[in-house]
Amino acid sequence: MAKLRRIFVCSECGANSPKWVGNCPACGQWNTYVEEVLGNETTQESKSTSWRNSGRTPEVKPVSLADIAPGQLVRFDSKDNELNRVLGSGIVPGSLVLIGGEPGIGKSTLSLQVATSIDAKVLYVSGEESEDQIKLRADRLSSNSSECYILTEVNTAKMLNMAAELQPQLIIIDSIQTISSPNIESMPGTISQVRECTSELQRFAKETNIPVFIIGHITKDGAIAGPKILEHIVDTVLQFEGDRQHSYRILRTLKNRFGRTDEIGIYEMQTGGLRQVSNPSELLLTQRDDHLSGSTVSATMEGMRPMLIETQALVATAIFGTPQRSSTGFDLRRLHMLLAVLEKRSGIFFGQKDVFLNIAGGLKIVDTAVDLGLVAALVSSLHDIYVSQNVCFAGEVGLSGEIRGVSRIEQRIQEADRLGFEEMYISKYNMKGIDTGRYAIRIQPIGKINEMVERLFT
Ligand code: TYD
Ligand code: MG
Repeated sequence: MAKLRRIFVCSECGANSPKWVGNCPACGQWNTYVEEVLGNETTQESKSTSWRNSGRTPEVKPVSLADIAPGQLVRFDSKDNELNRVLGSGIVPGSLVLIGGEPGIGKSTLSLQVATSIDAKVLYVSGEESEDQIKLRADRLSSNSSECYILTEVNTAKMLNMAAELQPQLIIIDSIQTISSPNIESMPGTISQVRECTSELQRFAKETNIPVFIIGHITKDGAIAGPKILEHIVDTVLQFEGDRQHSYRILRTLKNRFGRTDEIGIYEMQTGGLRQVSNPSELLLTQRDDHLSGSTVSATMEGMRPMLIETQALVATAIFGTPQRSSTGFDLRRLHMLLAVLEKRSGIFFGQKDVFLNIAGGLKIVDTAVDLGLVAALVSSLHDIYVSQNVCFAGEVGLSGEIRGVSRIEQRIQEADRLGFEEMYISKYNMKGIDTGRYAIRIQPIGKINEMVERLFT
């Protein structure tokens, strides 16, 4: 019998070592090495295909780039505009797409919805749920498709054989952590299994030209469970994010070999499944009350889509010696920076105040264009003077208190204009080339924080 080989693999980066080590020499993380049992890896097949041993002529020959006929990339419609958008206008045949997300976020729901609404034969492989459970879910989504085949099989060899027989136009694997390859002896979900299964699926997708969607769970700190190597193998990585407390779900492209990577799709989780949200601003701005201090509207971009969101601040006198600073949906360090700029450049002091920031709707914003709106919200809450509901903001705050221009300003203005805002504060450096006459909204170009504070609060 072949001797089993044991190695230790870093669960963060996939580096391996014959002995356990506490600190991964490759990625520097501590306590990430886990033991893996490998089967007899150099099988006959890999030996015979090794370039040293093969006396045969290779089946695939090098081709000059100029001789390759331009391929017809015919994408097919997933019948879900948000998914099409993040994939780069449809599903590419033969592509391998990884959909990552925390447990319970709605990955299975999304995939089943796609599987049942698409106009093609789909094979939905589930290692997590039984046929009955999937049927229950489909009933809940009120989707019933005779073209959607359910397979509860975890062995990759068997499932791929069945897939080759069925010839579906899309395969969905739910989830990569539950399937296992017979070529490897370790348990499902271990790093070597996840890696092996993914490469088998990749070979299958490339050879048969059938696209494969793989669902993967992500770990607490947001990484896709299994080594980074998984992300290298697949063509597209989508991350399904959201807050359990809120019903919005965001599908974000982290990597895409066939399209842009800054696209997002927005959904709302309802009792009957995920609803596509094509107009996010209207959804995010509904719960507003006039005359409340500390609340402003910022025009932000998520990928290529302009979105108006509510930026809220609460400034209160600190009860304890050290004032608290807390932020939800926005980088806390950047909040500290904004407070420091306000103190140093505008003489507005928050020294003994507790400061809380919140991006309404449970979104996480990395766009620095919300700086201006946040600064306005902070000053508004501090002085307890409200900012009119019809005003919105888009500008980045620099360290010397200057308001810097932001990208795609016209799209932001258009969105604010479309939603009926009357006034918009932007950086004066963004004014170049903007035809303000085109919009009904009044543009207020400003260069420094002080100018905005004077206009709004005095
Ligand atoms: P699920 O797709 O099972 O999550 P994942 O596969 O990512 O683990 O989603 C489960 C959650 O979604 C669950 O908490 C119930 C909720 N849900 C709805 O709110 N409406 C629905 O129509 C469905 C099917 C699920
Ligand atoms: Mg699931």
